[in-house]
Amino acid sequence: MKRLMEAGKLRLGLLASGRGSNFDAIMAAIIRQDLNASMALVISDNRDAAVLQKAAVRNVKNYFVNPRDFESKSKYEQHLVELLQAESVNLVVLAGYMRILGSVMLSAFKDRVVNIHPALLPSFMGLNAQGQAVEYGVKYSGCTVHLVDTGMDTGPIIMQAVVPVYQDDDEDSLATRILVEEHKIYWRSLQLIAEGRVYLEGRRVFIR
Ligand code: GRF
Repeated sequence: MKRLMEAGKLRLGLLASGRGSNFDAIMAAIIRQDLNASMALVISDNRDAAVLQKAAVRNVKNYFVNPRDFESKSKYEQHLVELLQAESVNLVVLAGYMRILGSVMLSAFKDRVVNIHPALLPSFMGLNAQGQAVEYGVKYSGCTVHLVDTGMDTGPIIMQAVVPVYQDDDEDSLATRILVEEHKIYWRSLQLIAEGRVYLEGRRVFIR
């Protein structure tokens, strides 16, 4: 069994493509001192992502990096790695980042990338997870914080939260209910990592 990270203050780099409500929730936990971390930078692949504004408001360095400016995914990711390493980031946080990470990022940050997915994995992987859950007719759904591996939404699970699905739910109402839980479990998962309490054995995560 191996410890994910030694106890210590996290230096986070957050990748996001959109709204940034998880960024806000993580920042709020840092400011409340519930999370022993600093937010080193935010990177978005979307020029118009609200998360960039949110980062600016919090005086967090923020970059729009256009993947189209690079001749390959590897070159694009190499640039991201350089930005993250230049800020001594030791944990990469994906929060609504709409791209699958490739080998360049994942080898530079092996077992150092986390994601949040708005379903109880391994159910409803991929896009539109909340809509998938409503359509399938499950009675409970939720969200999952997990380590990122080469698959899509397949890495070791750190924490999950459950919400009920009601008969009159649609994708939006379920997404809203799940989001409340996302904003609680993401920073809590990060804090467990900061406390050096997260261990990995195969694909099983143990909290000590
Ligand atoms: C969240 O629902 C998250 O689970 C998913 O993308 C959404 C991001 O929302 N991966 P926000 O940008 O953090 O508000």
